[in-house]
Amino acid sequence: MSNNSAAMQKVPLSVEWKDGELYLLDQTLLPHEQVMEKQESAEQVWQSIKVLKVRGAPAIGIAAAYGLCVAIKGHIDLPLSEFKELVKEKAAYLDSSRPTAVNLGWAMRRMLVLLEKDYEDSSDLYNQLVEEAKLIHEEDKAICRGIGDQGAPLIQDGMGVMTHCNAGALATSILGTATSLMYVAHNQDKKFKVFANETRPLFQGARLTSWELGKAGIDVTLVTDNMAAHMMATGQIDMVVVGTDRVVANGDVANKIGTLGVAILAKHYGIPFYVACPSSTIDMDTKHGSDIPIEERDGAEITTIMGQKVAEDGTATRSPAFDVTPNELVSGIITESEIIRAPYEEGLREFFKGK
Ligand code: MRU
Repeated sequence: MSNNSAAMQKVPLSVEWKDGELYLLDQTLLPHEQVMEKQESAEQVWQSIKVLKVRGAPAIGIAAAYGLCVAIKGHIDLPLSEFKELVKEKAAYLDSSRPTAVNLGWAMRRMLVLLEKDYEDSSDLYNQLVEEAKLIHEEDKAICRGIGDQGAPLIQDGMGVMTHCNAGALATSILGTATSLMYVAHNQDKKFKVFANETRPLFQGARLTSWELGKAGIDVTLVTDNMAAHMMATGQIDMVVVGTDRVVANGDVANKIGTLGVAILAKHYGIPFYVACPSSTIDMDTKHGSDIPIEERDGAEITTIMGQKVAEDGTATRSPAFDVTPNELVSGIITESEIIRAPYEEGLREFFKGK
């Protein structure tokens, strides 16, 4: 990671491993309170992921990798074979916390690969798992910076850039994915405006994206989700860039609910629509967007706004947390090493050749 990356972001780290303990920034309290919460058990980490204390595809993967270490730490007295079984069980448990972001399963599978090697004892394996989690975390920092370097040339002076949800520093190890382009372009003294969609129902755009970009001195304007069409129709948006929870083999992209609408609007108004992600978010085992599991969340999250009731008790609800944007609406997938463009099936296959 280039050494000025850390200086570009002005918000706390979302995940920290300090003196053998895991700390997660409680993002449900942002932007009003900044609380780093120590994670003491697998159940606590599972819950932190479920209720979005830690959120965003890469951050969930990193948190779960460390979370697995938290889950097994107290059991290093077990014989190695029993310990290995426990590691598998806890990894499956953590993986069950949220279904859509592929980074979670990716991180768990990567940790489990270590079980295939030989170890002196359970403590030796535990230490290796901690090292692997640290590696996943460190790699993500370089990857996010790489995404920023790849994507920043797309941002030109005078542009209006729209984003949806938070694919920011808070959703990753550092700098974010969609926001990494913005941090790098800002660091290059480019003058541009970001429009952050508020992102109902949980307001990641309002609470997180506008907060983190504003703190970094980036010109950011918050709009409600239903203002996106108007902003585009009145010529204020030149480019859209979002993050993703899963890109599949044909280039279809799952991201926060509402992204699909923004992509359709962008197509209508001839505005390029980019998706930024690390290669760990690309799932070549899933062929089509319709095969992506879409998390359905509790209706209480839409009948209330930040704890205030806005609909009658008993009101029927649906709350899919993500939607799938078909590949034909995507102008390019910005990764750490290149921007992949259509045709995506070939482009993605080529991208993974030799990796
Ligand atoms: O429900 P969330 O807040 O975890 O959803 C997050 C998103 O949709 C992000 O855009 C995605 O995970 C990419 S984060 C770099």
